[in-house]
Order: sequence, then structure tokens, then C-alpha cells
Amino acid sequence: MNEPILRINDVVKRFGGLVAVNKVSFDIYKGEILGLVGPNGAGKTTLLNVINGIYKPEAGKVYLGGEDITGKKPEHICKKGVARTFQITRLFVNMTALENVMSGIMFGRKELSDFKEAKKAAIEAMEFVNFPLEKKDLIAGSLNVVEMKRVELARALLTDPNLILLDEPATGLTPGELPIMINLIRKFNERNVTTLVVDHNMRFIMNISQRLVVLHYGQKIAEGTPKEVSSNKAVIEAYLGERYIF
Ligand SMILES: Nc1ncnc2c1ncn2[C@@H]1O[C@H](COP(=O)(O)OP(=O)(O)O)[C@@H](O)[C@H]1O
Ligand SMILES: [Mg+2]
Repeated sequence: MNEPILRINDVVKRFGGLVAVNKVSFDIYKGEILGLVGPNGAGKTTLLNVINGIYKPEAGKVYLGGEDITGKKPEHICKKGVARTFQITRLFVNMTALENVMSGIMFGRKELSDFKEAKKAAIEAMEFVNFPLEKKDLIAGSLNVVEMKRVELARALLTDPNLILLDEPATGLTPGELPIMINLIRKFNERNVTTLVVDHNMRFIMNISQRLVVLHYGQKIAEGTPKEVSSNKAVIEAYLGERYIF
């Protein structure tokens, strides 16, 4: 296989006595959609936070295109071509939808300072993610969940990423909205954006991913194609366990 775009090597992240991510290693290859799945509390969001520099791991390394980026600041990692969206959308709630998207191109890798050009690119990106343009001048805080997710995706796209980290893009969507999100993620991927998508929903992640990594209590318990993972005994047990709890 080709060189990995991202290499996670024995990463450990603790919160006090809790080991949220426990010696996790895997690679993501250029152009693929890799699903990171696991029950709630498995350490998925924490691992994304380590990758994009929100947390510094206690041990282990993160390499981007062969370069050690462990512990670098989120804005540096963004400028190196890693974008992300959040489980609970993080928009500038007092700015308009359009201004939020414009911030992606003005402060991302391109650092475009021409306001007019930034606006044009933002509108194009909003069209690309099917954001209802008649709402572009509304304050982001007044949008519904799906619209917020679209704004976040458009903003992420405009930072000009090679790699995008999506944290639970399907959460909060209705069953009817789910296929739209799946198509959107595929559309991103067709633009040569390598994708790491996190979710706790096995069905969604199986549908979208070419390869899967499964976390459980901070540890990687399986890795492989959706078919391999779905027949893995440890995975079945982890998910059965969850079903019994709830
Ligand atoms: N900032 C934090 N402080 C303390 N514990 C945390 C923090 N963030 C996450 N955790 C804990 O780490 C574990 C993994 O959480 P998280 O990465 O959010 O899981 P997931 O995204 O897979 O649901 C959980 O037990 C969670 O309670
Ligand atoms: Mg999470």
C-alpha cells in the first residue's frame, strides 16, 4: 500500500486515573474513508482531539505525511491540511452562516484576505453542501442541527484539507437526512479529501467506510473491512454488552 497520510503510533491519553485512549495505533491511507467506531465513551472524540492538537498525548506519536505533529497546536495542524467537525457543532454563534464559512478560507491554509473572493468561495462551498442559501445571512445560532452541520462542513472544506476528521456527522439527523449526509461525505472524498469518520452507529459507519477501526474502553479491539469487523467476536461482544446496558 502507499504511504499513510496519517500514522497513529501507540497513543495514550489519560484523564487522571482514566485511560481514555490506550496504546492505539493505526494508519490512514491517502484517499480512503476510514471509520472509527465504538460504543459511547470508547475514546473516539479524545483520539480526534489528540490528532488535531487539542490534547497532547501522554505517550505515542502522530505523524502527518511522515512529519511528527504530536503536541502541535490545533491552528498549526489545520494549516498543515487537517480539518475537523465536532460532535456538538462549534460555530461562531453570533456570526452569520456565511461569515462562519468564510472564516474557513480566510484563516485556513489559503489565508485569503480578499473579502469578496472569500464570499464567493463560501457561497460555492455552501451550495456544495446543500445549505439553503436563503438562510446564509442568518445568525448561526438560529439554525437547526442539520444546517449547522452543513455550515461546519462547508467551513472545513474551505480550509483546503487533505484530511478531514468528522466527529459523529450522523448524530441528530433523521433517518431521511442520513443518506444525504452519506452522499455528502462521499462527495468530499471524491475531491481527494482523505476522511476519518467517527461514529457509534455501526450501521452508518459500515455503509460509509472502506475500512474500520474499532475502539472499546480506549483500546483498539479490531481493524479491517466492514465485513471482517462485523464478524469479529470482540466487536460483537462490545456491542452486545452495550445493548444489554441500555
Ligand atoms: N476532558 C475530559 N476530562 C475527563 N474525562 C474525559 C474528558 N473527555 C473525555 N473523558 C472521558 O474519556 C472517555 C472517552 O471519552 P470520549 O473520547 O468522549 O468517548 P467517545 O467519543 O468514544 O464517546 C470517557 O470515559 C469520558 O468520560
Ligand atoms: Mg465522542
